[in-house]
Amino acid sequence: MMIRSVILGTGSALPVRRVSNAELAETVDTTDEWIVERTGIRFRHIAGPDETTATLAADACKAALGAAGKSAQDVDLIVLATATPDQTFPSSATKVQAMLGIDDCVAFDVAAVCSGFLYALQVADSMIRAGAHKCALVIGAETFSRILDWEDRTTCVLFGDGAGAVLLEAQDSADSDGRGVLATKLHADGRHNELLYVDGGPSTTGTVGKVRMKGREVFRHAVTNLASVMGESLALAGFTPDQVDWVVPHQANARILDATARKLGLAPGKVVVTVDQHANTSAASVPLALDTAVRDGRIQPGQLIVLEAMGGGFTWGASVIRF
Ligand code: UT7
Repeated sequence: MMIRSVILGTGSALPVRRVSNAELAETVDTTDEWIVERTGIRFRHIAGPDETTATLAADACKAALGAAGKSAQDVDLIVLATATPDQTFPSSATKVQAMLGIDDCVAFDVAAVCSGFLYALQVADSMIRAGAHKCALVIGAETFSRILDWEDRTTCVLFGDGAGAVLLEAQDSADSDGRGVLATKLHADGRHNELLYVDGGPSTTGTVGKVRMKGREVFRHAVTNLASVMGESLALAGFTPDQVDWVVPHQANARILDATARKLGLAPGKVVVTVDQHANTSAASVPLALDTAVRDGRIQPGQLIVLEAMGGGFTWGASVIRF
């Protein structure tokens, strides 16, 4: 028997407060025109005092459980990707576990910044295929607004808060109609730390720190790495780009989405774009975009989808899934 991890349901959650570019421009030296032209971003959601990475993650999980028709008690694994945990420890995954009322399961966080959801998916998929777990919540959740330097217009206009989750179930590949996670390819190159990082941490400054980014250099690496890793993951799964129904990319910049699709020869109409509504929500952006396109009916069961992301580290990756 060959086990596959099948996505049974998706969910997402956004903070109540939605902030337009015009509203940002009241306090930051920027304009709606600059942000839209350079990034495609129009809105982002910003967490209020009662909204945290874990509360947003728990809400996304409840929606994913509902969509999958599963109860929280069915879950035996929670993997949460975040760079903005509620506390340095314990993991936000254990907070989500408690919020969902699950007495006993395996729960931990994964840190790979914007690629975190791809890393978490690969970890959960591997644990399921090894036969150790049967029902997993894989989450990307962030409150990046809390680590932004609101005086730095080159970064603070780009990010937002939110969470997305998928419910994975172990199924015998003979019964799954070809559905499931088919192949995932991940990379990291730690030499690029200084291009995208946070200038603090428990073991260095003892502070949380703020996001720092050399945007233009990150942009250049992003287009090259994302096109290449999508090609690698498709080759691993035995498909070509023309067979893909939907690409669900990390939502950093509309120009990166366009340039990457062009490089792979993909029609722009096959790319799910939410960066205009959510901005860059780091680890949350791929599952948020996935849930958006599932709920509005674009992504249908049985379709071939590719998830991709790149972020701080650098880390990057892509996953080919029969939805
Ligand atoms: O999630 C992880 C992955 N992250 C990314 O993928 C981000 C990748 N990078 C990008 O998306 C883009 O590089 C940015 C959106 C960050 C910047 O766009 P750019 O076209 O590379 O602009 P730039 O950094 O070259 O800056 C152009 C000009 C500068 O002015 P001068 O030096 O030409 O006079 C900036 O000072 O735009 C200025 N600028 C702004 N102006 C108004 C930078 N930020 C702003 C702003 N409002 N918010």
